[in-house]
Amino acid sequence: MRDAEPQPIRLADYRPPEWLVDKVDLDFALHPTQARVTARLALRRNPKGTQGAPVILDGDGLTLVRLAIDGAPLAGSSFEAGPDRLTLAHPPADSFTLEIETLVDPTANTQLMGLYRSSGNYCTQCEPEGFRRITYFPDRPDVLAVYTTRIEAEREEAPILLSNGNLVESGPLPGTTRHYAVWQDPWPKPSYLFALVGGKLAKVADRFVTASGREVELGIYVEEGKAERAGYAMDALKRSMRWDETAFGREYDLDVFNIVAVSDFNMGAMENKGLNVFNDKYVLASPQVATDADYSGIEGVIAHEYFHNWTGNRITCRDWFQLCLKEGLTVFRDQEFSSDQRSRPVKRIADVRALKAAQFSEDSGPLAHPVRPQSYREINNFYTATVYEKGAEVVRMLKTLLGEAGFRAGMDLYFQRHDGQAATIEDFAAAFADATGRDLTQFSLWYEQSGTPVVTVKGSYDAEARTYRLDVSQAVPPTPGQPTKAPMVIPLVVGLVGPNGDDLPLTLGNTVVERGVLELTKAEQSFVFTGIDARPVPSLNRGFSAPVNVVSGLTADERVFLAAHDADPFNRFDALQGLALGLLKEGARAGAPVAPEALIGAARNILANTALDPAFKAQALALPGEGEIARELAADVDPDAIYAARKALKSALGNALAGDLAQTYGALVAAGPFTPDAASAGRRSLRNLALDYLAVTASAEGIARAAAQFEQADNMTDRLAALAVLVQHDVPERERALAAFYERFKADALVIDKWFILQAQIAASDTLERVKGLMAHPAFSLGNPNRVRSLVGAFAAGNPTQFNRPDGAGHAFVADVVLTLDPKNPQVASRLLSSFKTWRQLEPVRRASAEAALRRVADTPGLSADVSDIATRALG
Ligand code: ARG
Ligand code: ZN
Repeated sequence: MRDAEPQPIRLADYRPPEWLVDKVDLDFALHPTQARVTARLALRRNPKGTQGAPVILDGDGLTLVRLAIDGAPLAGSSFEAGPDRLTLAHPPADSFTLEIETLVDPTANTQLMGLYRSSGNYCTQCEPEGFRRITYFPDRPDVLAVYTTRIEAEREEAPILLSNGNLVESGPLPGTTRHYAVWQDPWPKPSYLFALVGGKLAKVADRFVTASGREVELGIYVEEGKAERAGYAMDALKRSMRWDETAFGREYDLDVFNIVAVSDFNMGAMENKGLNVFNDKYVLASPQVATDADYSGIEGVIAHEYFHNWTGNRITCRDWFQLCLKEGLTVFRDQEFSSDQRSRPVKRIADVRALKAAQFSEDSGPLAHPVRPQSYREINNFYTATVYEKGAEVVRMLKTLLGEAGFRAGMDLYFQRHDGQAATIEDFAAAFADATGRDLTQFSLWYEQSGTPVVTVKGSYDAEARTYRLDVSQAVPPTPGQPTKAPMVIPLVVGLVGPNGDDLPLTLGNTVVERGVLELTKAEQSFVFTGIDARPVPSLNRGFSAPVNVVSGLTADERVFLAAHDADPFNRFDALQGLALGLLKEGARAGAPVAPEALIGAARNILANTALDPAFKAQALALPGEGEIARELAADVDPDAIYAARKALKSALGNALAGDLAQTYGALVAAGPFTPDAASAGRRSLRNLALDYLAVTASAEGIARAAAQFEQADNMTDRLAALAVLVQHDVPERERALAAFYERFKADALVIDKWFILQAQIAASDTLERVKGLMAHPAFSLGNPNRVRSLVGAFAAGNPTQFNRPDGAGHAFVADVVLTLDPKNPQVASRLLSSFKTWRQLEPVRRASAEAALRRVADTPGLSADVSDIATRALG
């Protein structure tokens, strides 16, 4: 365990490394508890470093066995070695080879960082600082070396031996039960991209020929018996490889690309060079066990990790403050890929929903931080929605401002200039500035200022002058460490919708507004559009062109009009959501009578519109989540009142539209066997939305329909959707269906995770007892991150009424789990504690109980840096 209060690391303190490593030879002798690692580092003094600087290598919990310089063993007096650091105060020369032998215990590694075991297999996770748990090394992303890795192991225990790059040699070790393999990665890389895998794994093999004719062997390795579930991942991989060639001109650069799925993994997946390691949740799928959401998650994560090969690996980060350089950009790239593979508007709506749920809430609370933070105490806590999802939005805004061609020119220049380097956000911005001649100084504030800007817009029509005027102001709310902010560059895409529903021409003075992009750069600005013959309705922030909160003052009638006519599908969706949000806020605040007629009419029209994609309809008709309503209310939040208001509105819609919904449900019966394509998934999503609305009052008919679907479904999407409906209601069918589901899928941990999630999210006063009971269930394990996230994580982050019980029992429970988990796996523990990120917006009673729980965590001695950092900042 590290210090509870390590000194913060600051971006401003960045210094180049004193020593570089040109070449690394690793030799692993795998063993369950005593794996022997021999590292030979070709060290060279950095000409840009400090005169006479010592060699200081990072370690974390290491046991040193032996040290040698250029082959000669080193006497104890000439170095200093502790678990966390190795120092050579007087290096013998300006370049030499340091040989280090360490012993590590993969079985005892419950943090799942460094070399560990998952279901008996050996695997590694090195980003961000796991390599130092394997050997002493300058474990920072700006030290790039060429790696050769030799692995030996018992043939029985680990018939498969993998590492980065290309396989150069393998075979038995004569006279022993062991065998070996040697892998060589020709591309210089930082240590966080190192990976090793050893174990009993089934392989799915395929090939890919790149645009320039390189033949690549593709392999997906999964636990034995699961090979038939890797087909969709392989298909997604090949589509990703092709797409990066056409969309960005990026080809794959090794002869082998391997993916390994493991069942114990802290995050989603990892882009190690040529050897991606995945949480098996993002690889394994079959119609019987995976939902449409799982399929699209697999497609997105496979693409994301593959795209890192260029944005992350070929060009890496200078330091961890630049994390968004690879993550924001790569999320943008995977979102674009999925948009091209599926429906662009539907993908955009789903991404914005996710952005608002995770990032806007983070940005409005005590854990808010810039896309590029200025300091950190634990870098693992900065793999956040802000760095990833807001980081992607910043890249998207850049594209909106520069246009398709300018953006591509900037990307091309970035790849050309920085290939093989560890780069910064400044380098990235400079490539776009130089390629297009545009000054991006003010735009770069998006990387520096935290908080979600509020853009307030007032429209006025002058019939005589035939002008329409938009008065726009922007302000960024204060966030931790940033009380005042400067105005940002905000690309606000707008349209003016005329009385017949068509867009009016957008002309400012004599210039046509290209692509509808208004560039906000000042605290207050006005735009006067000319040649406007009738009063329009403004459609603002089309496609969610900027990650801001727009205050538009649109009337309910205007929203109904946009929902029916806006040429921008995102804003049609948003108009309906805005209508609903207004009603929900009112309902939650005052228990005010809900008057949803306008919303009902607009929803009915959407449902009846045969020109619209079912997936779009499902998104448009799904009410804003409880979290979004809470964030809109901003203060004195009572989650029970929100829940009640949402349920009342849902019932009103369900009752009023019952006929249309039943008709939709009947019309959308699948015509054939399950296929995971977007069109089929869209029909299922609308049909299952209808199922949910039709059961909202727990009518006998609604429950019977869901129960029948649960029993008859031939795929997991429909079965789970029906179960999700049943569990929301206190009916006998609930426990019956839960028991049947468990019996049917108990052998399948990833499916049982869904069973945990649904139960953890029931909005009922006995849910906490249920969750506590399930923690003792044989299928649950505190040692497996997917189980913890599915049961306790889903309760804390997905059940606002029960996590925030007024008696404080929900908060206390989550704090207890965090404290129990922290000594075993600090990353998963701190992630769970982050569920408190919106605690300050709660009403006083619940706020006090959240604060007490956070204080109890913060005051516990011996906390990990991860949990201590979150607790301190959440309270700060
Ligand atoms: N770079 C990985 C990705 O593709 C995330 C790995 C983060 N791992 C961690 N332990 N923080 O997003
Ligand atoms: Zn990533």
